[in-house]
Amino acid sequence: MADKLFSRYEELKAQIRDHNHRYHVMDNPIISDLEYDRLMNELKRIESDHPEWITSDSPTQRVGAKPTDGFKKIHHPAAILSLANAFGGDDARAWLERIAKIDDRVEKAKFVVEPKIDGLSVVLHYRDGLFVQGATRGDGEVGEDITSNLRTIRAIPLKIPVNRESGVGSRESVSPIPDSRLPKYLVVRGEAFLPIKEFDELNRKLEEAGEKTYLNPRNTAAGSLRQLDPQLTASRPLTLLVYQIVYSEGGKVPTSQWEILEYLKALGFPVTDVAKRFNDLDSAIAYTETWNEGRDKLPYEADGMVIKIDDLSLAAELGFVGKDPRGAIAFKFPAREVTTTLLGIDVEVGRTGVLTPKAILESVEINGVIVKNATLHNFDFIADKDIRVGDRVLVKRAGEVIPYIIGPIVDARTGKEESFQPPTKCPACGQAVEHYESEVAWYCVNAACPAQLVRNIEHFVSRGAMDIEGLGTELVKILVESNLISDVADLFTLTIKDLSVINEELNRRRREKHPPKNPVKPSTKKTPDKRPKKLFNAISEAKNQPLHRLIIGLGIHGVGEVMANDLSRNFIDLDTLAKTSAEDLQQIEGLGPNIAESIVDWFSLQINQEVLKKLKSAGVWPRGEEKSERKEGALTGLTFVVTGTLPTLTRDGVKEFIEGNGGKVIDNISKTTSYLVLGEKPGSKLDKAKSLRIQIIDENELRKLAN
Ligand code: IVH
Repeated sequence: MADKLFSRYEELKAQIRDHNHRYHVMDNPIISDLEYDRLMNELKRIESDHPEWITSDSPTQRVGAKPTDGFKKIHHPAAILSLANAFGGDDARAWLERIAKIDDRVEKAKFVVEPKIDGLSVVLHYRDGLFVQGATRGDGEVGEDITSNLRTIRAIPLKIPVNRESGVGSRESVSPIPDSRLPKYLVVRGEAFLPIKEFDELNRKLEEAGEKTYLNPRNTAAGSLRQLDPQLTASRPLTLLVYQIVYSEGGKVPTSQWEILEYLKALGFPVTDVAKRFNDLDSAIAYTETWNEGRDKLPYEADGMVIKIDDLSLAAELGFVGKDPRGAIAFKFPAREVTTTLLGIDVEVGRTGVLTPKAILESVEINGVIVKNATLHNFDFIADKDIRVGDRVLVKRAGEVIPYIIGPIVDARTGKEESFQPPTKCPACGQAVEHYESEVAWYCVNAACPAQLVRNIEHFVSRGAMDIEGLGTELVKILVESNLISDVADLFTLTIKDLSVINEELNRRRREKHPPKNPVKPSTKKTPDKRPKKLFNAISEAKNQPLHRLIIGLGIHGVGEVMANDLSRNFIDLDTLAKTSAEDLQQIEGLGPNIAESIVDWFSLQINQEVLKKLKSAGVWPRGEEKSERKEGALTGLTFVVTGTLPTLTRDGVKEFIEGNGGKVIDNISKTTSYLVLGEKPGSKLDKAKSLRIQIIDENELRKLAN
């Protein structure tokens, strides 16, 4: 009986080990979580009846006991080296030239390129195939014993080779290592890390629970591994990739880096699938550079690629400089995160009256660009992260996104930092600010706020709205400051004389800002400035713009291009739109209660009614378009929001494409949005989509969907 139970116990251990491997290393589970839990529970039951059977490689032993007193020290069996850096191809080529002088075999060497994961270097010891001990890198000679914590990382095999006697499925990709080739004692090195997705998810949960969030995956991984409670480590979804054999005894291990990766994989270790071997350095560099551009496709943070000489005996003979082996180099990607000081927080007023905090930074270079300002998102963000003026802050600038503050470096505080108090009054007009319950933003609701008026007019004349060429920000500011206009409708009553006056002022300001180097006396024969006339014509022409452009120009909260189009197809003019109730507005597909209310609110404001009256009497009163029939197709029933610039389709093009296939394009993300179509330089819609877990696709995927 006991015999039978014991063999069931062994069978269970082997099966669970195999399922762990499939799940955490191969990313290819063959049973559900429920079935996995069932096996695990059976194992636990047997172990509680027979504690004498428990071995250290049992899957239940992943959460170990709490070490009582800090971490033990572990002497590494060989030095745990670091790497010299190269910043760009020339640097890497210079490295090769240097080492070729030491040994000319380098000229014919092959190279292996691997991702340089930004995590925590760990050293894993296996005796007779059993994971017996694990350590941090420490100073390279002595590390900390974090065995209990490492046991909780399911990607780390507790027994190697993984996956033989278990009999659960077979591994297609690599052939098993015969026992005769397994060293009695094997020490491997890898990088433990938190995948970006898991990091985001962890922070989302912490935020939901009202707890402090982490700064970045690296710190989180390091913090989770270097703390005394393995239960806590176990609750962090850490994983690892292994890339080096540090030491081996009693067995034969490969002598080239490429074969080492294959060998480690065959033993059941998780190994990167991004590594490649090249016959010359230039190809290795070219490959590295493709990953610099594609680094966001990696599921983890990589701060570069490592280029390694494949022949490990040649690499060893090259020796090292300090702690850096000559046989490999870290090809660093340009940094995207830097720390600097937050000098102050400015508050700007947007077109819709939203107050947005802007970080004033001690200028700092990130990836070749000098950064002086960064986004702080909103006041809640500042409070949640406890960002104080004077703090050292972590700033990120990735790709095309506007630089943003990740959070403060709390440990760097001196005590002189000051908490930030959001303004209670609009910084531009002094009016009290307001807050809507469903939004994080604070608003200045003063329709006559000059800051808003400038933004309003800028929006009204912009290319996507009334498209009045030549009216740039500077001119708009002058128009507002000189009291020539108090709303968008006043633009249409400006005379050529008015426009000449503001043009003069513009020229004067420009001269003041950039005085001519050799001032010459103004000639008596002046060539007439054509700008006022041109502006006058552009404004007059705008009177003929179609209704949807006028609606966009009005800047109704939540009404963008797509909604404006829909409205112009449903209403003959602004008078009929103004008279429609929120309920009736909601009959239009994609128009929810929030936007309906926002439209009704806009038209009910006295000040806006004045604008409409003035527009009408100035002859700016376009008629709506004919209702168009909806097509049926592969996208019927799906709603799409588009953000950023797509590779081939224009804004109108993508709308036409989606609608042509039966889909619907809407302006704003909501829970019912089917997809966000993502292009370059996306806006805040991306964050919103992520937070609502809306599926994100690119243009290619959209085309596939439409088939
Ligand atoms: S090789 C002699 N390969 O980068 C071997 N390192 O300073 C030296 N790292 O501390 C390391 N991914 O923690 C190597 N594929 C990779 C790596 C890698 C990440 C880390 C490692 C080391 C640092 C380099």
